[in-house]
Amino acid sequence: MPTLTVLLLLWAIGSYSFPATSDTHKQDVDMVQNYLQKYYNLERGTSRSGEQKSSDLVAEKLKQMQKFFGLKVTGKPDAETLNVMKQPRCGVPDVAQFKSTPRSFQWERTHLTYRITNYTPDLPKKDVDHMIEKAFELWSNVSVLTFTKVFEGEADILISFYWRDHRDNSPFDGPGGGLAHAFLPGKEIGGDIHFDEEETWTNDFRNYNLYYVAAHELGHSLGINHIHDIGSLMYPAYIYYGDIQLSQKDIKAINALYGPKITNKPKEPQVTKEPQVPQACDTKLTFDAVTKVSRDLFFFKNRFFLRTDDSQQEVDFNGISLFWPLVGAGVDAAYEIAIRNEVFFFRGSKYWAFNGDQPKYGYPRDIHSSFGFPGKVKKIDAAVHQEETGKTYFFVANKYWRYDEYKKSMDTGYPKAIIRDFPGIGKKVDAVFQNDGFFYFFCGTRQYQFDPKTKRILSLLKTNSWFNCK
Ligand SMILES: *[C@@H]1O[C@H](CO)[C@@H](O)[C@H](O)[C@H]1NC(C)=O
Ligand SMILES: [Zn+2]
Ligand SMILES: [Zn+2]
Repeated sequence: MPTLTVLLLLWAIGSYSFPATSDTHKQDVDMVQNYLQKYYNLERGTSRSGEQKSSDLVAEKLKQMQKFFGLKVTGKPDAETLNVMKQPRCGVPDVAQFKSTPRSFQWERTHLTYRITNYTPDLPKKDVDHMIEKAFELWSNVSVLTFTKVFEGEADILISFYWRDHRDNSPFDGPGGGLAHAFLPGKEIGGDIHFDEEETWTNDFRNYNLYYVAAHELGHSLGINHIHDIGSLMYPAYIYYGDIQLSQKDIKAINALYGPKITNKPKEPQVTKEPQVPQACDTKLTFDAVTKVSRDLFFFKNRFFLRTDDSQQEVDFNGISLFWPLVGAGVDAAYEIAIRNEVFFFRGSKYWAFNGDQPKYGYPRDIHSSFGFPGKVKKIDAAVHQEETGKTYFFVANKYWRYDEYKKSMDTGYPKAIIRDFPGIGKKVDAVFQNDGFFYFFCGTRQYQFDPKTKRILSLLKTNSWFNCK
């Protein structure tokens, strides 16, 4: 099980370089080696005399990995990189295994058979059957491929649950880490899909959803490699949102191998819903939540987040669940109490707290019992903490509440109308954060810099004014 301990490590600034000294550093070094060998083709067992060459190689592979995951490309195993390496993922490498033969693997027939050779005890048999069937349907719906399930004997794609070493040179690693793998099209083991039985398989949002992993692995069975696009099913990290769909890139990849589905109907406009990855410089960009955490700003949108820092590098969205599995489905509101080093995330009527780089014990909690919101409040739109006064403002529809973080109680006389005390920003707030004593409100595609002391708008900005957009 991946835990939330990875949380604020992400902004626990700093990186260190090889060689490492302490035990944990030794573990990290081993993990980096292991990860790069498994997923980036780093050669095993380099000799002592080749130490310099070997560390250059590691740096090169690290850069490749960082680029793939949209991290800062430092060539160093910084905290952020280590976090991504600790996340659950597909066991298939991100780079092609045999550089010398850049051929594509594909089936020579478009009708294929599959067989489920054994079942996981985690789920009823019929659930497994159903999820596997759906995974096939996902791909047959967009391609010329057709699939038939067989119950005995030979089949093109064999589907099995295995433990540890299962004699294919790709032993499973126990809970977490690599979840499953699949072989590119070919004879015998080609096309087969293996799930790590030491994972807990589910048919819901709990880790790990079998349909989601099966649909991804099947992509490999059909000949598709990992796609460097967080919105695609063929992205290597486990980022489950509840809604499994193929992105345009996934569809393009399968159609490049087998051709698109032939229909008699006239071509309709594409209605495939792309799992939308927000674009930082989209002028219509809106946000769910924004908060400062130490010196960086974090912008949340659906299941993605974007961080700005002072490096002035180009910024990109990343999957929330890659870093914070529990709140990976998205957040409605977030705020920081900097002097206590605490950050709070809200989704629906639940909220989570983190202290430094650690999730706080006893969460999620309920906003009604903790803050005293009435039952009709189902979610928080936006929240911000004001350092000087120790008050936190919660925005819900056209009203706002004020909470005293020291007395741990809601101030009396609330809720009040937003337009009364924050004139000009409109009736509803998507997100808000505090910087240098000012509030920055996000309302639709607009952003207002607001002075809470004078109750005046100081400037009107685009929502993406904090990014390096031209
Ligand atoms: C495949 O297409 C059919 C018909 O459009 C649809 O009902 C079904 O949900 C699709 N299956 C998957 C797994 O997306
Ligand atoms: Zn994969
Ligand atoms: Zn295997």
